[in-house]
Amino acid sequence: MSVKALMIFAHPGENSFHHAIMQRAAAACERRGIAVTLRNLYQLNFQPVFRAQDMQRIEAKQVSPDVAEEQQLVRECDLLVMSFPVWWWGPPAILKGWFDRVLTNGFAFRYTEKGPVGLLRGKQAALFTTTRESQQEMKADGYDWLITQQVAKGVLSFVGFDPVIHKNFAEVPYLSAAERERMLQEVEDTIASMRRPLRV
Ligand SMILES: Cc1cc2nc3c(=O)[nH]c(=O)nc-3n(C[C@H](O)[C@H](O)[C@H](O)COP(=O)(O)O)c2cc1C
Repeated sequence: MSVKALMIFAHPGENSFHHAIMQRAAAACERRGIAVTLRNLYQLNFQPVFRAQDMQRIEAKQVSPDVAEEQQLVRECDLLVMSFPVWWWGPPAILKGWFDRVLTNGFAFRYTEKGPVGLLRGKQAALFTTTRESQQEMKADGYDWLITQQVAKGVLSFVGFDPVIHKNFAEVPYLSAAERERMLQEVEDTIASMRRPLRV
């Protein structure tokens, strides 16, 4: 059985630094013989709003077709790669909605007498984000840990991914070509450093 990477991409542009990040991450996966599935949430026109019918479906243990498709890809993957710009110190709404609708109670986690348990164990995750602010500005305002806390720990570790590696690339609009290249190399190195999936 081949090892699978699922790439969740959430940038509305057509030629952003995130496109370069995903291309380099995909190339690094393919070099390791990992099959890549790319989900460009904007191109898919993913419906991100968790509506009353989503809640009713969860209670009835049913899943809508668009969510079922995403859950199947998550279930099958060994490595989850995410790439998104930081907006208002969080993920873009389309990705927040993907978390809300796809990583549901009963699929991604469940509550036990001892507390919540992640159900997506045996999988690794790499998270690549970008900010306009510099590392120093974020640190001064106390924002430097927010995405790690909210998304890496609060979502991905919570549902069982281990390890979850988060790299933020700061001041992206102001980078030189050499600085961009150094960051893209870090993307490749991060993928290369992931523990070899058990199924290889
Ligand atoms: C709606 C919106 C909110 C943003 N919020 C933040 C923010 O909270 N912190 C920050 O450093 N940059 C913020 N930015 C800037 C983006 O993070 C930055 O432009 C992006 O990471 C660089 O990628 P891009 O130029 O390819 O979009 C925001 C941009 C938009 C459009």
